[in-house]
Amino acid sequence: MSVLPMMKDNDQIDENAAPATAADKQQAYFSCADIHAYYGESYIVQGVSFDVREGDIVALLGRNGAGKTSTLRAIARVDEPHITKGEIWLDQQPLHSMKAHEAARNGIGLVPEDRRIIQGLTVEENLKLAQIAPPVGWSLERIYELFPRLGERRSQEGTTLSGGEQQMLAISRALARDVKLLLLDEPYEGLAPVIVQEIEKTLEQIKELGMTTIIVEQNAIAALHLADRAIILDMGQVVFDGTAQDVLDDPELRQQYLAI
Ligand SMILES: Nc1ncnc2c1ncn2[C@@H]1O[C@H](COP(=O)(O)OP(=O)(O)OP(=O)(O)O)[C@@H](O)[C@H]1O
Ligand SMILES: [Mg+2]
Repeated sequence: MSVLPMMKDNDQIDENAAPATAADKQQAYFSCADIHAYYGESYIVQGVSFDVREGDIVALLGRNGAGKTSTLRAIARVDEPHITKGEIWLDQQPLHSMKAHEAARNGIGLVPEDRRIIQGLTVEENLKLAQIAPPVGWSLERIYELFPRLGERRSQEGTTLSGGEQQMLAISRALARDVKLLLLDEPYEGLAPVIVQEIEKTLEQIKELGMTTIIVEQNAIAALHLADRAIILDMGQVVFDGTAQDVLDDPELRQQYLAI
């Protein structure tokens, strides 16, 4: 059984990076290898492979409809899109043979774009619900230290929080579980620049704690400043895999695939 991602002919290689040896690849903390996934008959994720090292932040970028959300969903093993081929490994566990709840128990923390704050529950109840089954992650005290605003509003109903606060709660709910890989789908979406900066700062803090993260963002520049590495998707395939700095330094690449 191989977990080695395959390079396609059109992949751009980071020429400055040390060549990856088979041993490096096998040690990748997270790896998805040749993932193919469908919504019904629609073939959307078309052979995606990439690795993430422990503690790294990877920006998963690409135009609208490139397949970013679908790739995150496939990794989190939610029902759709369904995977027909490929392997996904996290900390030596085979996610490809798990369902979503097992993937969550094994360390996947998906923070979806729509945040899914549970109606009728306070901030604290939303967090406690995330901790109802083991493995439990951060304590409430630790979460309120990271997001003091959530502490102040712990008795407020979650759905009445501002957009930025709801995003903080959605991220906190993932941290409240024992997460090994945080998957963030457009955490800055719809938020005012000042709130984006606040959440960026928090993500920096989470990064310093060594949390391995994949961030999907329309605000590619912000994501690239936070990230160590970048993967660019186009039409369900990886078209670039390199350092975030490479993308920041390459206006042609950004223009071609990100239109920025
Ligand atoms: N539930 C679904 N059923 C059928 N097709 C879908 C479904 N969800 C997404 N798709 C299609 O899959 C493709 C990739 O969508 P996806 O949401 O993964 O893209 P994305 O890169 O996240 O885009 P965006 O930047 O707009 O969020 C699109 O063509 C989309 O229409
Ligand atoms: Mg999306």
